[in-house]
Amino acid sequence: MDDIFKSVSYSQTTLTELMIPSYANFGGKIHGGILLSLMDKVAYACASKHAGNYCVTVSVDNVEFLQPVDVGEMVSMFASVNYVGNSSLVIGIKVIAEDFKIGTVKHTNTSYFTMVAKDENGHVTQVPGLILESKDDARRFLEAIKRKELKNTYKKELHNAKTLLEVDSNRHLFAKERCKITF
Ligand SMILES: CC(C)(COP(=O)(O)OP(=O)(O)OC[C@H]1O[C@@H](n2cnc3c(N)ncnc32)[C@H](O)[C@@H]1OP(=O)(O)O)[C@@H](O)C(=O)NCCC(=O)NCCS
Repeated sequence: MDDIFKSVSYSQTTLTELMIPSYANFGGKIHGGILLSLMDKVAYACASKHAGNYCVTVSVDNVEFLQPVDVGEMVSMFASVNYVGNSSLVIGIKVIAEDFKIGTVKHTNTSYFTMVAKDENGHVTQVPGLILESKDDARRFLEAIKRKELKNTYKKELHNAKTLLEVDSNRHLFAKERCKITF
């Protein structure tokens, strides 16, 4: 697939769905899990269209629901390929919720799904390269490279921190927290 390239616009996908009462939690707001499931669906559609193959979800970054979504709102998810590696793709998803009655539009979150393409035998397979047709396409590609670097650094530092964390020598850290040690 080294010579195959597809544009970002080729696979851009939008999913719009009305938030119905059965999606709500006990507080009357939409379950985060419902939104995650819809995000996974639109990420799959976008990634598979670019890859021309079945894709699986490997990781999800930056999921923070800063504003609640209400029953009756129309949620739209805009997905596009931000970055391609060899067999992996990063799909950026912007989520908005609209209330048509009062005319509000909330940006609830932007998240990044890393997907990997698999062939008919279940083996990872190369995806087409990406044609960046605008400065925004190029900026998103660069941001994805930066996020990947930062994530690798974070993973290494977390691993090192975990190996250094010893309960008895860190008792002072518990003192600032809302917990009681009973051993
Ligand atoms: C994702 C998966 C295919 C990776 O398998 P693997 O044997 O590690 O394959 P590779 O080492 O060749 O990696 C394949 C790609 O995945 C990427 N990858 C692997 N682990 C990753 C991680 N934790 N985060 C981001 N990307 C990752 C690699 O960077 C590589 O990308 P590239 O080809 O663009 O360079 C495998 O772990 C898998 O099938 N996981 C289950 C996925 C699934 O079923 N998801 C549904 C939810 S249950």
